[in-house]
Amino acid sequence: MPPFSRMRASLAFAAIVAGLSAAHAHADDVAQSAPVGSVVASAESPDHTLSVDVLLTPDGNIAYDVKRKGAVIISPSRLGFILTNAPKLDRHFTLDSQATTAHDDTWEQPWGERRYVRDHYNELRVNFVQPTYDNRKMTVVFRLFDDGIGFRYEFPDQPQLKELKIADELTEFAVTDPATAWWDVAGEWNREEYLYNKTSLDRVSEAQTPMTIETDKGVYMSFHEAALVDYAAMWLRRVDGQRLKTRLAPSSIGPSVERAAPFPTPWRTVIITDNAPGLYNSNIELNLNEPNKLGDVSWVKPYKYVGIWWGMHLGINTWEAGPKHGATTANTEKYMDFAAQNGFRGVLVEGWNKGWEDWFATGNLFSFTDTYPDFDLPAISAYGLKKGVHLVGHNETGGNAAHYEEQMEAGFAQYAKYGVDSVKTGYVADAGGAQVKGADGTVHYTWNDSQEMVRHYQKVTETAAKYHIAIDTHEPIKDTGLRRTYPNWVSREGERGQEYNAWGKPPNPPEHEANLLFTRMLSGPMDFTPGVLSLTGQGGQEIQATQAKELALYVALYSPIQMAADLPENLVKYPKELQFIKDVPTDWDQSKMLNGEPGDYATIARKDRNSEDWYVGAVGDENARTSTISLDFLTPGKTYIAQIYRDGDHADWHGAARFDIVIESKPVTSTDSLTLKLAPGGGEAIRFVAGKSIKAQSKKVHK
Ligand code: NOJ
Ligand code: CA
Repeated sequence: MPPFSRMRASLAFAAIVAGLSAAHAHADDVAQSAPVGSVVASAESPDHTLSVDVLLTPDGNIAYDVKRKGAVIISPSRLGFILTNAPKLDRHFTLDSQATTAHDDTWEQPWGERRYVRDHYNELRVNFVQPTYDNRKMTVVFRLFDDGIGFRYEFPDQPQLKELKIADELTEFAVTDPATAWWDVAGEWNREEYLYNKTSLDRVSEAQTPMTIETDKGVYMSFHEAALVDYAAMWLRRVDGQRLKTRLAPSSIGPSVERAAPFPTPWRTVIITDNAPGLYNSNIELNLNEPNKLGDVSWVKPYKYVGIWWGMHLGINTWEAGPKHGATTANTEKYMDFAAQNGFRGVLVEGWNKGWEDWFATGNLFSFTDTYPDFDLPAISAYGLKKGVHLVGHNETGGNAAHYEEQMEAGFAQYAKYGVDSVKTGYVADAGGAQVKGADGTVHYTWNDSQEMVRHYQKVTETAAKYHIAIDTHEPIKDTGLRRTYPNWVSREGERGQEYNAWGKPPNPPEHEANLLFTRMLSGPMDFTPGVLSLTGQGGQEIQATQAKELALYVALYSPIQMAADLPENLVKYPKELQFIKDVPTDWDQSKMLNGEPGDYATIARKDRNSEDWYVGAVGDENARTSTISLDFLTPGKTYIAQIYRDGDHADWHGAARFDIVIESKPVTSTDSLTLKLAPGGGEAIRFVAGKSIKAQSKKVHK
């Protein structure tokens, strides 16, 4: 937009929000769009680091600001809604009442990156009324943690506002200090699978969340949402300067959200820390979700798996039946043998069911119960179960949620009968190409992150739970911590995963994982599918990483289910590296990011949930990186053998140098430190085997 029209637009906006006449406004559009009002309620986080003020403008607009250690970091930002069936919920509000409460407890995750999670916050509830409109009521609830805030709206049961048809949400986040942003675009055809941008915050267009920033004062913030239930996903559109506004994913047939009161919106969340690892170590996302609704979920198993998968992405196999069909009985049994020999619990099989002949964005040929003739489901599952290996189900839908909903229950029932206790789902359609059945019974196309699709993803998870089946959603709605409420929603894709290294143009760049860790991974587990030890995609395309980094991904990119994605014939070529994949657990007692910067590098330490062993994974970017970590996370007084998988002296992310790895081991204790030297495109993986004796000899194996 040319500067002149941009200025005019923002002047008009300022006049509305601040209650000023346009004549009084001047050209500084950042300041101009800020609501000016008086504070009507305030609260602080438990240790006083963060505080929030709630403001009312003379026109009765509600706004809030956020301070960290007394300094404003989010300037007055407006709140409210545009409705299609009733006057807007923005001005003419007055304060009705307010209350502050404190909360501090610790809860246990059935599986996770840490076993115990402390939930410590102060809550501020502010009840507003709109006298102009029959005293319509709206509550804004803030939860202040020491490392961030969450807030949401609640609509009480009231005759004057029974149903809300929400055209858009007006929630803003006006960042005070100049900032750099790590973000990827929202609302575009490739859904959530874009490369990350690093720009100044005032160059963001419309971003997916989590979106992460660092201000010039060294404050890190990540914007996202929690508990996205029966509502449209939130995108962040930059209005002007550093002012971001919520934009709800649109509906293709009406307002973005249709809901009957009473209901709460999802939480709008901002993690706020003075160092980048603090973003990753925060538990706000989980804490703002409801506790487990499924009861005993001991049937949800963390596991590692192999699968008939990479061959299709390489183009050497096909999903559909034919001479190159991957999902044959014989091939699956071969994978089951490999899994049993190497301790993998699961074998994923894609292309087992009929309907792959024309599936992309159509999905209407798929059967979720009928197998191709060369795939004998009962025999295969019996063969696997005898060896303790479970088939991992696969339901690609081509984005056709309507078609899937008609069959999924029959599919889950059949799967359950054959010992399949987890299913990977898929929604491959361009954004806006998902298909759902409307209230009138007809099928229409919709956005993948619309309210209708949000409902669909949850319905799949709840239906699967009835059959004790866990769900791993590909092309999902973004994660908002719902695994706490539905612990069978074990993992998702939701960004560029390994598959882009097979056929992506370009493949994932060396900084990709260091971007993921400070954005996508803040939302929850990712089924990235690491473990392509051959580091080679379609037609010889090089994966831009070293082997040590490929191993480090198992620790760095958390998921309770982790694939060893390469073809078995490739995995066995690297027995020493494969050993790490066999050893590494997928369920953790503790996790901590030790150091890192968005897009540059990160080092994460995790303790196994089922032993005293610790693991470290470090990932870098295209530059060589050296960092020293203290091993003070280890239990004092205990000796550990550090089994180190590190980049060799000549390693980098090109050609043969990708395979330059050093595997060595040495005794360490909690008083030691280790210097990690990551090659360009490199990483490092370490297993700390807990023991007592300090005797083990330092031994080196050069390859
Ligand atoms: C996209 C998924 O991410 C990928 O893992 C899968 O193989 C294909 N869809 C086919 O379902
Ligand atoms: Ca995908």
